[in-house]
Amino acid sequence: MFINDINISNSYGDDEKIVLYHGSCMDFLSRIPDKSIQLIVTSPPYNIGKEYEKKMKLEKYLEQQKYIISQCDRVLKDNGSICWQVGNYVDNGSIVPLDVVLYPVFTGLDLVLRNRIIWHFEHGLHCSKRFSGRYESVMWFTRKTKHYLFNLDPVRVPQKYPGKKYFKGPKAGQYSCNPLGKNPGDVWDIPNVKSNHVEKTDHPCQFPVGLIERLVLSMTNEDDWVLDPFLGTGTSIVAAIRHKRRGAGAETEIKYVNIAKTRIQEAIAGTLQVRPMNKPKYDPNAAGNKLITAPWEKHKEDYPAQADLFDKRE
Ligand SMILES: C[S@@+](CC[C@H](N)C(=O)[O-])C[C@H]1O[C@@H](n2cnc3c(N)ncnc32)[C@H](O)[C@@H]1O
Repeated sequence: MFINDINISNSYGDDEKIVLYHGSCMDFLSRIPDKSIQLIVTSPPYNIGKEYEKKMKLEKYLEQQKYIISQCDRVLKDNGSICWQVGNYVDNGSIVPLDVVLYPVFTGLDLVLRNRIIWHFEHGLHCSKRFSGRYESVMWFTRKTKHYLFNLDPVRVPQKYPGKKYFKGPKAGQYSCNPLGKNPGDVWDIPNVKSNHVEKTDHPCQFPVGLIERLVLSMTNEDDWVLDPFLGTGTSIVAAIRHKRRGAGAETEIKYVNIAKTRIQEAIAGTLQVRPMNKPKYDPNAAGNKLITAPWEKHKEDYPAQADLFDKRE
């Protein structure tokens, strides 16, 4: 699975396998030839004042994104894909879903939305004045062509009832579902990378490798280029090289470039700890976790409201 003798280059070239550029994606993209990349996958800064970003007015942020997206469109192969993973911009308690405001930027370039994948996860800020945000989306765009690359078989997941058979008609007795598994759908339940996750680094919002592996396996073939303009800790390159694709990315912050380099080297050596792509999420009930007994179950008199509310649930 791993390629042992590869070099990490800092400039894009068609003979390279891995390119890690320290600097702005605007400079990096300008050095990539037209129509050379099969998959562009990224999570841009959301302009919410994280340590690596300066909060700017939404209009200015969108202008900057527009320029970068147009460069991504230029370097995309005709049968390639762009996956832009975003959440919400939050302004004074009001949320702006970034996929909604970025959608016209992509369609203005004649790109077609194939899926709006909902990535659902369990961990994040606990809000007190609105419901806590527990999903983000991946907008998947291609060009207006029927011939975009999409390989479903490598990303199929087990069916709920894999042993189900037709009980009547000409196929009676045969399995009624695809033996290779089912389409994973457009709602993906993948744990986000928070404190106890095996992939956690010092970055506040890295991709889980499994999220990107699903995109890499379905939207590229071996040896194709996967590009992440906002690379962070190098997850997109890690996902690419784990499946014999080539990976390139830009990152402005040197501390994340260094983390990315280490993770890429570990991925090449086969020592990087990664949560398996289709591992089901942790179920405390199934795991027999001792922490699942709620206080109101033990001392109902101290928690009358909760005991009443929760006891009535189906
Ligand atoms: C949301 S994070 C991406 C994290 C990444 N998906 C990962 O798995 O680690 C966005 C990253 O973009 C970087 N960044 C911000 N502006 C940039 C620019 N103009 N060019 C390249 N990287 C930039 C930030 O430093 C940050 O690490």
